[in-house]
Amino acid sequence: MVVTGGSKGIGLETARLLAREGARVLICARRESALAEAAADIRRITGCAVATQSLDVTSVEQIAGLPDAIGQTLGGIDIRVNRAGTGTCKPFLEVSDAELLYGMAVNVFATWEREIAKRPLSGEEAERIRHEWSANQGMRATRWGTPEELASVIVFAASDAASYVNGAVLVADGAQGHS
Ligand SMILES: NC(=O)c1ccc[n+]([C@@H]2O[C@H](COP(=O)([O-])OP(=O)(O)OC[C@H]3O[C@@H](n4cnc5c(N)ncnc54)[C@H](OP(=O)(O)O)[C@@H]3O)[C@@H](O)[C@H]2O)c1
Repeated sequence: MVVTGGSKGIGLETARLLAREGARVLICARRESALAEAAADIRRITGCAVATQSLDVTSVEQIAGLPDAIGQTLGGIDIRVNRAGTGTCKPFLEVSDAELLYGMAVNVFATWEREIAKRPLSGEEAERIRHEWSANQGMRATRWGTPEELASVIVFAASDAASYVNGAVLVADGAQGHS
């Protein structure tokens, strides 16, 4: 299994739970020092070794090299968890162009870029996606989830415990979507 953003926050907690469940895990993030600390932390708590790979998910060149790294460390993967992410928490009109572009690069294009390149969106599809995003921005604010709360949902979805769940969207948002 590969967990991007696995050195911190939700990604680290997910990698820890996956390792504890017996999965062979490769964690990726940009900073090697943080990856090494995370791997040591997981080993200390679970007794399990995880592999690490420095990776910037906004770099197409670096992503292209990931299959080789996976081949050398794990041999192959069954599950990929995309947790590399960033967020800008301020009113929309105060968000700079640079912040907006960087957020889209990490949170959207890093995981969609190849699919979008293969399948250009029609006007209707783009409009539908824009509406979904807008609806998300109107979510009621309660609190952020803890890494443990999000990681447990991810590990459940990846496990045999979810063997009859297929193609579903599991929402873990503290009921923020319900007003
Ligand atoms: N906590 C919540 O309730 C919640 C709810 C909804 C959404 N989210 C979103 O979920 C995402 C992760 O949240 P978090 O709390 O786990 O964040 P976090 O603690 O800041 O961890 C982010 C992880 O992503 C890595 N990362 C950042 N940019 C990267 C890049 N360009 N390439 C590769 N790795 C990168 C970081 O390591 P490096 O800096 O070393 O690369 C780190 O391992 C964020 O986008 C956040 O906004 C969180």
